[in-house]
Amino acid sequence: MNYNHQNQRRLIAFIAFSVIGLWGFTANQRTSGQQEDKKLDPAAWGANHVGQPVPDFVHGDECLFCHRNTIGAQWQKNAHGVAVRQLEDAGPLRDLLKQPELASAAKDIEYFLGSRHRVRFLKKDGFGTFATLNTQAVIDANGKAINWVEKDKPTWDKHKFGNNCAGCHATGIDAKTKSFAAFGLDCYACHGNVNLEHSNDTQLMILSKVRRNEAALITSTCAQCHLRGGKSKSTGLPYANNFVAGDNLFQDFEVDWAKADDEKLNPIDRHIYRNVRDVAVYGKTSPTCISCHQVHYESRTQSLAKHKLHPRAPLCFECHLNESPLKATKPYIVTSGICEY
Ligand code: HEC
Ligand code: HEC
Ligand code: HEC
Ligand code: HEC
Ligand code: HEC
Ligand code: HEC
Repeated sequence: MNYNHQNQRRLIAFIAFSVIGLWGFTANQRTSGQQEDKKLDPAAWGANHVGQPVPDFVHGDECLFCHRNTIGAQWQKNAHGVAVRQLEDAGPLRDLLKQPELASAAKDIEYFLGSRHRVRFLKKDGFGTFATLNTQAVIDANGKAINWVEKDKPTWDKHKFGNNCAGCHATGIDAKTKSFAAFGLDCYACHGNVNLEHSNDTQLMILSKVRRNEAALITSTCAQCHLRGGKSKSTGLPYANNFVAGDNLFQDFEVDWAKADDEKLNPIDRHIYRNVRDVAVYGKTSPTCISCHQVHYESRTQSLAKHKLHPRAPLCFECHLNESPLKATKPYIVTSGICEY
């Protein structure tokens, strides 16, 4: 029948195209060598907000008014949600102030930075700025001190937070004054300058369910803080200049991509460098940070569960031994000159 003939012709055409396509593809591979040699200019797409004022963004308490049942219910247990806490919200960390190591400084401490391994102590020092105490507490999973760093002479530093930390441990930094619009990590850090019309059209919202395939954009967003060791070209500071989620980080943030191959770097920072390089420089679209991590998780176990389902990729072997099925991970210790631990 006519219909069948047509199908047959389509099939032949399809096979012919496939053969030509495959031949073209392999020829391409032969001439261009490995896919990894094909480098993109990471700064080519999108825009940035260097030199502009910090947008007047919708703050987290407003977002949580509508999103309180899902996001709000977990946010105070989330490492991003508790990245910097005021005294009254700091739960078990408040007991640290009773320790002899902080006897002389405790009365001034108003904020805590960190929640999982290390805690730094802060106090307000003018509008949108903190002074930082040199003394650090090394904590266990219950927030109890198991060790102290620089405990002999607790001293406050007025400039460290703005010069070295603010862009990744606070939100909405003014490049000139180095002051922040909100302490800790507000929704804005990842969701950007949110348009409230998104409640009718989630296409307007970065990281909404319909926009989780935007590899380059998502990677820029997470890398603004997690690519430790980069530098803003316009300010020279170790954090991005006025990055607004949706921007292209690499138009102003300078990165040494060779760190992705540095065997001396710990596997946590290295898997980030590798993944960011794969997306930003080699144009890969999977995996991205959110293929493996769930930012709004119920628990760390749930967050790790997601990565186990991802198909095997070269990135897996930053942490795993190359065996089947994947099981053991290599032992590692994370240190960071940027974060002083
Ligand atoms: C504005 C800075 C900033 C941005 C943007 C950011 N992070 Fe983080 N992230 C942090 C800081 C700071 C911590 C450590 C918080 C703490 O324990 O004090 C952290 C912790 C984490 C952790 C470990 C704790 C946990 O929750 O399991 C993961 C994983 C993580 N971030 C993934 C991401 C991903 C994925 C993105 C992008 C969608 C992202 N982060 C965007 C700053 C940031
Ligand atoms: C380029 C962004 C960036 C800068 C700048 C930065 N940090 Fe961090 N910091 C991070 C990220 C991302 C993490 C989470 C890393 C992880 O868990 O693997 C982190 C984690 C930490 C932690 C560990 C929290 C915990 O409990 O695990 C401490 C403490 C810390 N930073 C202190 C500082 C201090 C102090 C400064 C300034 C001297 C600073 N950081 C500068 C991005 C940054
Ligand atoms: C560190 C980056 C980061 C911060 C900060 C952040 N989010 Fe998200 N958000 C994400 C990512 C990534 C997703 C995609 C799903 C996931 O990974 O959990 C997401 C998804 C969501 C979703 C959709 C959840 C769903 O059902 O799929 C909502 C709603 C949301 N975020 C609201 C908020 C609010 C409100 C805040 C502030 C209190 C906030 N987010 C702060 C990264 C972030
Ligand atoms: C007036 C109520 C309201 C406010 C305020 C609000 N949202 Fe929403 N948001 C909604 C509604 C309604 C939806 C669509 C239904 C849904 O998915 O929850 C939505 C969807 C989202 C999604 C996508 C979820 C998906 O299903 O893909 C994200 C992410 C999100 N909001 C984040 C935020 C952030 C961040 C803020 C603050 C800057 C914010 N919202 C403020 C009502 C609000
Ligand atoms: C192939 C999956 C995968 C991808 C892609 C990936 N990660 Fe991870 N990452 C993991 C796993 C698994 C761990 C847990 C390691 C552990 O607990 O020892 C981890 C650990 C981390 C940690 C430390 C968590 C902690 O509890 O201290 C941070 C921070 C982090 N990843 C951020 C990122 C960012 C940012 C990206 C994107 C640039 C990214 N990751 C891409 C799988 C992945
Ligand atoms: C950043 C480090 C890191 C990366 C990258 C990573 N893993 Fe893992 N993986 C871990 C850690 C840590 C565990 C153990 C966590 C647990 O079971 O609670 C684990 C556990 C697993 C397990 C369960 C093993 C068992 O015996 O229970 C599987 C399967 C797995 N990973 C697959 C993958 C795959 C597939 C990839 C790449 C797409 C990958 N991992 C990338 C750190 C990593």
